[in-house]
Amino acid sequence: MATHSRKILVTSALPYANGPLHLGHMVEYIQTDIWVRFQKLRGHQCIYVCADDAHGTPIMLRAQQDGVSPEQLIERIGAEHRADFADFLVRFDNYYTTHSPENRHFAELIYHRLSEGGHIVQRVITQAYDPVKQLFLPDRFIKGECPRCGAADQYGDSCEVCGATYSPTDLKNPRSALSGAVPIEKESLHYFFKLGDFEDMLKGWVRGEHVQEQMANKLEEWFKAGLQEWDISRDAPYWGFEMPDAPGKYFYVWLDAPIGYMASFKNYCARTGLDFDEFWRHDSEAELYHFIGKDIAYFHTLFWPAMLDGAGFRKPGAVFCHGFLTVNGLKMSKSRGTFIKARTYLEQLRPEYLRYYFATKLNDRIDDLDLNLEDFQQRVNSDLVGKLVNIASRSAGFISRRFGGRLAVSLAEPELYQDFVTAGAAIAQAYERREFSRAMREIMALADRANQYIDERKPWVLARQDGQDGQVQAVCSMGLNLFRVLMLYLKPVLPQVAAQVEAFLQVPPLCWDDLQQPLLDHAIAPFTPLMQRVENGQIAAMLAASQENLAVTRAPAGPAGLLASQPIAPPITLDEFMKVDLRVARIVEAAAVEGADKLVQLTLDLGGETRRVFAGIKSAYRPEELQGRLTVMVANLAPRKMRFGVSEGMVLAANADSGIYLLGVDAGAEPGMRVR
Ligand code: MSP
Ligand code: ZN
Repeated sequence: MATHSRKILVTSALPYANGPLHLGHMVEYIQTDIWVRFQKLRGHQCIYVCADDAHGTPIMLRAQQDGVSPEQLIERIGAEHRADFADFLVRFDNYYTTHSPENRHFAELIYHRLSEGGHIVQRVITQAYDPVKQLFLPDRFIKGECPRCGAADQYGDSCEVCGATYSPTDLKNPRSALSGAVPIEKESLHYFFKLGDFEDMLKGWVRGEHVQEQMANKLEEWFKAGLQEWDISRDAPYWGFEMPDAPGKYFYVWLDAPIGYMASFKNYCARTGLDFDEFWRHDSEAELYHFIGKDIAYFHTLFWPAMLDGAGFRKPGAVFCHGFLTVNGLKMSKSRGTFIKARTYLEQLRPEYLRYYFATKLNDRIDDLDLNLEDFQQRVNSDLVGKLVNIASRSAGFISRRFGGRLAVSLAEPELYQDFVTAGAAIAQAYERREFSRAMREIMALADRANQYIDERKPWVLARQDGQDGQVQAVCSMGLNLFRVLMLYLKPVLPQVAAQVEAFLQVPPLCWDDLQQPLLDHAIAPFTPLMQRVENGQIAAMLAASQENLAVTRAPAGPAGLLASQPIAPPITLDEFMKVDLRVARIVEAAAVEGADKLVQLTLDLGGETRRVFAGIKSAYRPEELQGRLTVMVANLAPRKMRFGVSEGMVLAANADSGIYLLGVDAGAEPGMRVR
């Protein structure tokens, strides 16, 4: 088969180093890993590199919030990411970080070359600036009322209510999401990459089938809308690489992020002696593929090929774009509790179950895919345990017990075996084209045939008849040979099960060419169970843990005396607790209530809705000092008629004889957010 070995370099998008991986991320890394493992199985040289995307404002702010340096933060998150990937059997040849000397080198090199080519211009622009935090605010860090529909609490780039897109200066009543301060306008010099210089090149590149058809259509729209100059600089304070010729200016994170692909590969070359230029020089014949999600297509299909071209490097052979994961039909969302972290899954379930399930869902298109947990359980149990493992478990016992673990010397049904081998061509083609769902369907159809074969021959009946020993060995050897072919086909998806099967069959690691030779007159090891069923409890536990991650963690017990005077209430179930809808609220107005010495009347902004609440906190707070604060309220408490008016909810405060302490919410949270 592998008459000519291809040289392939593959990447997945670099995950941001500011938070944990979730199952949505895993779609991409599993998709890429399956494709890479397939290429390796076929005998090609296929190198898979990735890295943490370690720069940018959110990482800087997150580190500040955690009271650590950005270096410490990206170190910690990097270690978590690596562990999650390893445990999901995503096997990179190199996993690096964009905060590396190699990446600085290539970022500077590419910038210099673009600059020399006349593709960089400087311009003074006016931007929103947080006078309290003293930094320029990225669009996402400005909130205000939508200029079109007036919805409160919208981001600076688009309205989630009416879908309008605009610039942050258009927002009404804008606020910094960091400090709550009113942003001021401030001028500063920025550096721009002239994307438009590359329009013809890009149009040609798109026509060259380097992107999927759906993507090509999207690109048509982008070309029509016009290619704008791209702002590649940010002002200090910023977490990233300082620009070589411009002190106080930094490369925007998205400039050095894709360059991180090169840097990770360079780092790999240093380790292995591979030739970097062979893969990246402008006339390289090596293949280069980027797997990405649909949200970052603009960067990979326009900016990135243009940067490479302008700097004299080769362009990607293809950008493979996938859709987004939903869980039980809904967008993953923290407030809905369907935000399942990679680690939370791994604590309950084997990685290969999800790898297989995603494989049954993935194709070469950009459509979203759904993880329906019931379907997941059923699919894994019926396909992997019910069909696949069943073939081996029904055949192996007889071979071990009756024939000393020895397989027959010839195939009982050479034609059936040949059918399985022949099917390999279509399966390989499906893998190659990233039509994994088709590959899985073909493989499971073969599994059905293998089971059917065993059902018809009934070795368990033959075993009870005299003089049928040869038949029993022949049928079971045949079953195990079909099983071996299926495991080979599934090896990119189920690498650990495949390793268990290699140990059981006592063979070296299977590769595609092994198909041609059935396993005959060969001793195998005793069979041990390969996979267990997915149980309801495991899924329930995973969901519960995903909710617990967001639950308000119980404060450590205070002084014994206080706890004793306010004993902890009898337990309630999670369901009961979940009925309480807690929300972040901003106190927009606070006023004393005439005639009530304990009450303050609060006007609360819930992000699109305003509530009036009476709170008994006057002894602890002067109304003026409450204005503008974020707090937590019970949003679904039935309105209560009080002497001074109707109270439409309740704010939360620690409350004891010693004092009243209103709950606060960390900066960055927005009114209306659910609290759990
Ligand atoms: N750091 C950038 C990528 C830089 S590449 C030079 C980034 N990071 S990310 O952590 O937000 O996303 C990493 C990848 O995971 C992206 O390709 C993104 O599309 C993908 N996904 C994130 N959430 C996803 C789903 N819910 N579903 C499928 N893929 C998702 O973007
Ligand atoms: Zn709007």
